Amino acid sequence: MSAAGVVRASGLTKEFGPFTAVQDVTFEVRPGRVTGLLGRNGAGKSTSLRMLLGLVRPTSGTATVFGHPYTELPDAARRVGVCMDGIGPTPGASGRRDLRIWARTLGVSHARVDEVLDRVGLTDAADRPAKGYSTGMKQRLALATALLADPELLVLDEPANGLDPDGIRWLRDTLRALAAEGRTVLVSSHLLAEVEQTVDDVVVIQRTLRFAGSLAELTSDGAQRLEDRFFSLVDGDAETAARTERLTHA
Ligand SMILES: Nc1ncnc2c1ncn2[C@@H]1O[C@H](COP(=O)(O)OP(=O)(O)O)[C@@H](O)[C@H]1O
Ligand SMILES: [Mg+2]
Repeated sequence: MSAAGVVRASGLTKEFGPFTAVQDVTFEVRPGRVTGLLGRNGAGKSTSLRMLLGLVRPTSGTATVFGHPYTELPDAARRVGVCMDGIGPTPGASGRRDLRIWARTLGVSHARVDEVLDRVGLTDAADRPAKGYSTGMKQRLALATALLADPELLVLDEPANGLDPDGIRWLRDTLRALAAEGRTVLVSSHLLAEVEQTVDDVVVIQRTLRFAGSLAELTSDGAQRLEDRFFSLVDGDAETAARTERLTHA
């Protein structure tokens, strides 16, 4: 692994009782790129992201963000913007009010709140109660929250869920723009087609790691549609997938 990995997961494993949700997963996230963490529902994506962010303790293995375990990373809340289920808006608050509450916690100005509202296209809805927002608007508010402190790294768990095709295009353009600004983006999805035009690098998991590399490497054989390649990685057994990967790299 290169020294430049913004995020490095090494042998990450999580057992819930007798059930192994994530097994020996190793990958790194390179700076200034959009990395897609891809896998079916239940593949272990959220558990992996939670281990990276210190929200779930790995059974074994380690994860670092900017070279530190997340819980020991100085200024973590400002350097890393996170979108993940369970971080919802304050009950009863409008989008703007919710963002202002976060802004105070993060030491960010009200002017910045207006900036992020604009960036995610929520300015017109900013003063309505956030609980009445559509799923897509809630996703936009969550991204606005993640962007508040101008983070270097964004970790987004299935931000495309519930978005309509316009929303998915908006998300794609937004994530590309964030990477173009030099930020690093780690985004999970269960839909490969959704992120195909968004990601530079791909990490495919199905409990175990099935592929880690650039999108170009994943598609280099040209013979297979990306989606078919994805299914052959997640449906094949881990040994076959690892062998495929070695062949790809040979
Ligand atoms: N706290 C938990 N206790 C028991 N099983 C869990 C827990 N969290 C996740 N799992 C299980 O681990 C597997 C991976 O879950 P998850 O990481 O949420 O997958 P994904 O995000 O890829 O859909 C699933 O089978 C899920 O039911
Ligand atoms: Mg999940």
